[in-house]
Amino acid sequence: MIEKIISLKAIITEDLKLIKDVKSLEDFRLKYLVKKGELTALFENLKSVPNEQKKDVGRELNLLKQFVESEFKNLKEGFELAEDTSPTIDLTLPGRNNFKGSKHPVEQVLDKIIEIFVNMGFDVAEGREIEDNYHNFDALNFAPNHPARDMQDTFFIKGNDDLLFRTHTSPVQVRVMENMQPPIRTIMPGRVYRNESISARSLAEFHQVEGLYIDKNVTFAELKGTMVTFAKKMYGDVLKYRFRASYFPFTEPSAEMDITCYLCKGQGCRVCKYSGWLEIAGCGMVHPNVLKMSNIDPDIYSGYAFGFGLERTTLLNTGINDIRALYENDVKVLKQF
Ligand code: PHE
Repeated sequence: MIEKIISLKAIITEDLKLIKDVKSLEDFRLKYLVKKGELTALFENLKSVPNEQKKDVGRELNLLKQFVESEFKNLKEGFELAEDTSPTIDLTLPGRNNFKGSKHPVEQVLDKIIEIFVNMGFDVAEGREIEDNYHNFDALNFAPNHPARDMQDTFFIKGNDDLLFRTHTSPVQVRVMENMQPPIRTIMPGRVYRNESISARSLAEFHQVEGLYIDKNVTFAELKGTMVTFAKKMYGDVLKYRFRASYFPFTEPSAEMDITCYLCKGQGCRVCKYSGWLEIAGCGMVHPNVLKMSNIDPDIYSGYAFGFGLERTTLLNTGINDIRALYENDVKVLKQF
């Protein structure tokens, strides 16, 4: 019996060498691994083996069976791998685009503004979006019956007459002055709210950047110098500008700064309402009452303040001509910046 097993193994080994394709592998399977195959026949013979040899013969038979099965399995896997027709990598295809997000244009313009002022020695402060009447109006010298305090212009908090959504970033000036003594050189960017109808030129929720400079002997000439330096860094050296007298309760004297229209370069167009000029900022010398209320002595110190709209500045920088486009989050628009 043992000799039979050995000779069958030799035959099988020779047969294995002949297997060249799926067809010959199948023939091999039918010859040895099915119920009527030669291996099973040998197992049948085990019955007639004398008892004392059964153990050894059985072991040899099982070893042979394992050998045949594992050789078969290896060959089968080899053919399957070779047959595998799943697609390979096509190196001629164009690469997949990796779409990266980017900063919102308003944020990019704010970064630039901050960089310009930080280089001029300003630091950056933030206040709060929900303010009280004192910081938004009283401390800024608004008369008790000033129209800006009206519900028509200001969003108040229901159930609390003293709380409101700040209408400008100027209350941050008050908070900065309350917390430090001059010299003060700070810009204050932030979100503000006004009860306005939304149009191509205005939103009810937008951003301002406030500036405050307080020291001894600060003059209006320094205010103009700072504003002009800023505008030229922002819009280029060739820019034309002008200051017009204006009024704010918290500055005296007050002015508004205009620059030549970015679209028509001063020729006159729809964007600048055919004037050739665009208003970019309000500014002025901080009113002595405002200094006094925040415990800064107006006989020793003077200062200037300015404020401008961040979205309007972004329109000037990007050439977008509808302020609403900044917040519609249309990727086709945002992708360009
Ligand atoms: N707070 C003013 C506004 O909202 C702008 C301003 C700021 C004017 C500082 C003068 C000085 O219109």
